[in-house]
Amino acid sequence: MESSMEPGARPEQRVLAHTGYGRRRKLATPATQEAGAIRVGVTGKTGSGKTTVTALVAMACASRGLRTLAVDTDVSPNLGISLGLSQAAVDQAREVPRALVAGWGGGAVTTDQLVTSFGTTTPSGVTLLHAMRVSDDPGGCWCPAHASSRGLLAAALDGEADVALLDLEAGLDHLERSSGTVAHTDLLLIVMEPSRKSSVTAERMFTMATRHGIERVALVGNKGRQLDPVTFHDAARGFGIPLAGIVPDDPGIVEADRAGAGISLGDGPVLAGINEVLDSFL
Ligand SMILES: Nc1ncnc2c1ncn2[C@@H]1O[C@H](COP(=O)(O)OP(=O)(O)OP(=O)(O)O)[C@@H](O)[C@H]1O
Ligand SMILES: [Mg+2]
Repeated sequence: MESSMEPGARPEQRVLAHTGYGRRRKLATPATQEAGAIRVGVTGKTGSGKTTVTALVAMACASRGLRTLAVDTDVSPNLGISLGLSQAAVDQAREVPRALVAGWGGGAVTTDQLVTSFGTTTPSGVTLLHAMRVSDDPGGCWCPAHASSRGLLAAALDGEADVALLDLEAGLDHLERSSGTVAHTDLLLIVMEPSRKSSVTAERMFTMATRHGIERVALVGNKGRQLDPVTFHDAARGFGIPLAGIVPDDPGIVEADRAGAGISLGDGPVLAGINEVLDSFL
């Protein structure tokens, strides 16, 4: 991918120039060599399964040969565990320094260096970046950190990844600010459990996403049991957005979480549900 960076421009500005940032783009797989990096934000109610879905989608992308970046923006990061890292490895992973991400070190650091220096390769081949940590506590508001995730996400795709997935923290904050992290994603996946509370939160998130001009929003039904597809389909229809796929309630996921181990795509209904999600945006 050729650089269109003006002298003195920051890497983020260069990325914006080449990705047609802010415009809706037709996404293509690298297999076709038609460019096409996609930034996917994953949001939803607390405990709905954002981290689980992010990890599964990331692993499925990697298994399709896509260079996949998973960015953990949670103040208490645990995406690495779901991606198969040990707790020790997660604890040792270098977090991207706030100043570097926010200001890009005055252009001193290229995206390549960023990923090489701060990315952790996980067993599934997904590269993990920790956008911030509790140890970075700015003492009150997390706003600068969220703005940083945006910069990180944009720059990470500067030829370094085909897909970047953002595991967003629970809550509506990132959707509330027009400069919030998700305003810079190409697609927002709202994860919903089959519960009224989850559906109400999903609707609020959808409304805010629309208000902030996010054009592509889709629902992912998670922890689906026998009759739940009807609930997910009804919810998506009610919001007027597509249902990207349904991930079943899976004892293997529960067991892995209980053991603090990585989750697996398997070769059954979980894989089928995640493939549906991938096929909806790739
Ligand atoms: N498809 C599934 N089948 C069974 N259990 C699931 C599934 N998805 C998630 N879970 C379980 O639900 C719980 C919450 O999942 P997860 O941590 O992914 O949610 P989250 O939205 O990221 O939570 P938080 O808001 O705390 O970040 C975990 O115990 C996880 O194992
Ligand atoms: Mg989470």
